[in-house]
Amino acid sequence: MQAVSVRDDIVTQCEAITTGESDLIANLANISALIFDQFEDINWAGFYLTRGERELVLGPFQGKVACVRIPFGQGVCGVAADSQTLQHVHDVHEFSGHIACDAASNAEVVAPIIVDGKTVGVFDIDSPSVGRFSAEDAEMFARIAAICATFNWNQA
Ligand code: SME
Repeated sequence: MQAVSVRDDIVTQCEAITTGESDLIANLANISALIFDQFEDINWAGFYLTRGERELVLGPFQGKVACVRIPFGQGVCGVAADSQTLQHVHDVHEFSGHIACDAASNAEVVAPIIVDGKTVGVFDIDSPSVGRFSAEDAEMFARIAAICATFNWNQA
């Protein structure tokens, strides 16, 4: 399990690397790089952005090539987007409708990014280890999604 101070430090770094930068894609790209680099035992970290009314399209990420389009309501990402609730999945094989982009992924957290009541995107983190993410880890990803919600999504 990751130490509490490490989680707080990661959130602080997310704020530090995006403060004063107005470009949405640059900020999302750097956050995905930061998480992928600093959070142990993960194999994918990145964003899907809402396009049209009810579709997610792949955004900045780190990890293996991923599926590009996910309809709202489908997979862990689509459920997070549709329900606007944090999805904390200990074992993706027990999540009905999970979309397997990388067969190595076994645990997943998806935090919706909500602006003015609308899901503008989701923050998705995968791990090869079942049960990798604690409740505190999931809450940390939700805090980072809340930071992302402060960015200028009119550029999305
Ligand atoms: N597993 C996700 C799809 C995205 S990949 O994990 C990058 C899902 O079920 O929505």
